[in-house]
Amino acid sequence: MADLEGLKVAKNYHIDEPFANQNGFYVKGANSLDWGMKKHLSNIFNPKSGNTVMFAFDHGYFMGSTAGLERLDLLLPKLAPYVDVFMGTRGAIRTCVAPEISKGIALRVSSGSSMLQDDLSHEVVAVDIEESIRMNADAMAVQTFIGADGQLSSIENLSKVINAGFRYSIPTLGVVAVGKQMERTDRFFKLATRIVAEMGVQMVKTYDCENFEEIVAACPVPIVVAGGKKLPEREAMFLAYDVMRKGAKGVDMGRNIFQSTHPVEMAMTINKIVHEGFTDEQAWEFFQDMINQ
Ligand code: R5P
Repeated sequence: MADLEGLKVAKNYHIDEPFANQNGFYVKGANSLDWGMKKHLSNIFNPKSGNTVMFAFDHGYFMGSTAGLERLDLLLPKLAPYVDVFMGTRGAIRTCVAPEISKGIALRVSSGSSMLQDDLSHEVVAVDIEESIRMNADAMAVQTFIGADGQLSSIENLSKVINAGFRYSIPTLGVVAVGKQMERTDRFFKLATRIVAEMGVQMVKTYDCENFEEIVAACPVPIVVAGGKKLPEREAMFLAYDVMRKGAKGVDMGRNIFQSTHPVEMAMTINKIVHEGFTDEQAWEFFQDMINQ
């Protein structure tokens, strides 16, 4: 452990310079991975745009039945044409995602808390690697609680999943957790995203914050941004546009899609921002056209 006395503040992010070790494969930080990992990553990040729209519907793993997700069997097929990846629990995916839908699968593999508890930071690896292989998962998602009570066990969970993922060439998605007691500053997200990346994940899910470009620059794997709490549609579009222009490689959006009064049109619009570079204004116009048809 380095001596922490007199630490200098990190500031040389060179945010205008592209990631330097990028020859060969289009996904950031994936050059040295083998074919199987790259194949899974290609199922997640569209080879043409390099970006991804993940639809997060894993809320049930700690929230139970969630507003907007009551009938996954009805919702998921409608959203499928507009998202690249379904991110959910094995229970939801097995029962409600038809196997013939050719979408990437991000399988939530950590679990162990519920919204009835104050401290959600204690989890276990609930889905083993054989199950991820059986489900043909393109990524295994692990919640990581940096700075919380459960940090050590969540790092242990993350390490186990990453190690198993390397054995069978399945990427790991490290999910940076935020909680009631946890700060949401750029200082926190810089620390958390970088720790998670250095553990060996192939992509990180985190939140928007100040100086987001620096978080992206300092993270050697792609960042996808969580939507977070439900916002008015136009604000959610701005969030997606803003993080994309600052270097995110996609969104992993839940409530801002499934709690919209127009979830399908919202998914279509987010797709335009992520894959076609729509600005928030273009997106809003597109959305209005779609819902008024
Ligand atoms: C993180 O804890 C889980 O993956 C959530 O289910 C996901 O972040 C929720 O997405 P959103 O915040 O966009 O509803």
